Amino acid sequence: MADARTSIAPAVLDQLRATVGAAHCIERSPDIDPYLVDFRRLYHGRSPLVLLPASTQEVAGIVGICAAHRVGIVPQGGNTGYCGGATPDESGRQIVIAFKRLKRIRKLDAAEHAITVEAGCILADVQRAAEQAGLLFPLSLGSEGSCQIGGNLATNAGGTAVLRYGMMRELTLGLEVVLADGQVLDGLKSLRKDNSGYDLRDLFVGSEGTLGLITAACLKLFPLPAQRATALIALPDIGVAVALLGRLRAASADRISTFEIMPRIAIELTARHIEGVRDPFDRAYPWYALVELTSSETGGALEAALEQTLGDDAQALDAVLAVNEQQRAAMWRLRESIPEAQRHAGASIKHDISVPVASMADFVRDAGEWIAAHVPDGDLISYGHLGDGNLHFNVQQRAGFDAGTFLARADEIHRAVYDRVAQYRGSFSAEHGIGRLRTPQLLRYKSAAEVAVMRALKSALDPQGILNPGKVLTEVESS
Ligand code: FAD
Ligand code: MLT
Ligand code: ZN
Repeated sequence: MADARTSIAPAVLDQLRATVGAAHCIERSPDIDPYLVDFRRLYHGRSPLVLLPASTQEVAGIVGICAAHRVGIVPQGGNTGYCGGATPDESGRQIVIAFKRLKRIRKLDAAEHAITVEAGCILADVQRAAEQAGLLFPLSLGSEGSCQIGGNLATNAGGTAVLRYGMMRELTLGLEVVLADGQVLDGLKSLRKDNSGYDLRDLFVGSEGTLGLITAACLKLFPLPAQRATALIALPDIGVAVALLGRLRAASADRISTFEIMPRIAIELTARHIEGVRDPFDRAYPWYALVELTSSETGGALEAALEQTLGDDAQALDAVLAVNEQQRAAMWRLRESIPEAQRHAGASIKHDISVPVASMADFVRDAGEWIAAHVPDGDLISYGHLGDGNLHFNVQQRAGFDAGTFLARADEIHRAVYDRVAQYRGSFSAEHGIGRLRTPQLLRYKSAAEVAVMRALKSALDPQGILNPGKVLTEVESS
């Protein structure tokens, strides 16, 4: 019997069900509902079938059937992405592959400083497995309790330790990928050096499920830190923060793993909305930096370097060093609660931008002045990974104003912010990807040559366009 939710032929759906078995198919509400909406609830899609494969062969089998019948496939990890990349569209012609059952840690090789994991492993579980072996997997995100390695790879996730260890791309040694015709590309190597032709691995990292489905990865591990020095530092402006970053890099022999910035308004918001978060100082300051230095050497050299640099710094307004784990956790909680506090505070027009670190002060002043002059119902909350030149440059609906009226101006505000980002030769998407949300900006701000190469790659690797259709690359540029 025909199914009103889809135009995929019933016989094809039967073949797909058979790849994983009925117990691992999800088809009906309410079970299917969480798979059809993105984390920010921007998109509500439709799909007749969510499949939960438990092996690479099962994924390959599903893709082979979809390729034969031109069925669209949406890969989904922990569904914490911010750009709607893991949500099917409204056509009902796309199936979802959820990776949560593909979650084995295949191998941890301490001598090689490498771990091989399946795509559905939760990031925090991989961090824990490394730690149990006395090693560190450094990727660290606010969503680490639910995002998956496959999602981290597909979005090339960033987070709070990029300054020291790099983004997910830099942490990746090899990948296993199911291609659009169902072939398995086995690149699961732990080699540090391999110049034998084009780098296929890097094509898939950051491709958001549009070039291939990642089923496993070999990732880099590092020595566990034996000392850690953490401080919250009050600062007058971003320029002073950038100068301090430079001095700390030199004084600590580049042992900084985190340099995060928060404006006063973010402190007020978290203290107001998040249980247990308190203002860290007795008085208010314009900006706050959360700084962490780590080293696998034992001793207290980093704390001494941090103390000395801050003592010598005439421009830092105040500082507090964490003297125990509880204080350290409180500092981190303050920073990591900002997205949640923003959710409590109302609507937010979000940007995830990067510009060269040296231009950050000018960019924030320039774009900040535009927002102050043109958005009377919004407050700028720009916070995040200053050490990486990446800010979450969000405009928050002001209390007492209407959310609908505020959000109606989102396109105009995006345009003003992104045009300035482009003037500074920055990026309109630093770490969250493109998904469905940022497709117009990709066509607007990437050069024609870049878009042409991206299209050529897409049609070479996915000629039928079945892998995550409508994500990353679309046909039409909007306003
Ligand atoms: P999903 O949301 O499920 O999917 C993301 C994309 O990857 C989709 O396009 C999907 O189709 C594709 N995909 C998923 N699995 C696969 C696979 N196996 N093969 C191919 N494609 C696949 N991001 C940052 O970069 N830095 C941060 O600091 C950060 N902080 C966050 C804090 C919070 C509280 C939240 C909610 C999110 C945060 N994020 C951050 C965003 C998000 O967590 C990351 O983008 C994360 O990498 C997404 O992983 P996921 O498993 O949830 O992927
Ligand atoms: C963060 O760094 O907190 C996230 O990338 C941004 C967010 O969660 O909104
Ligand atoms: Zn971030």
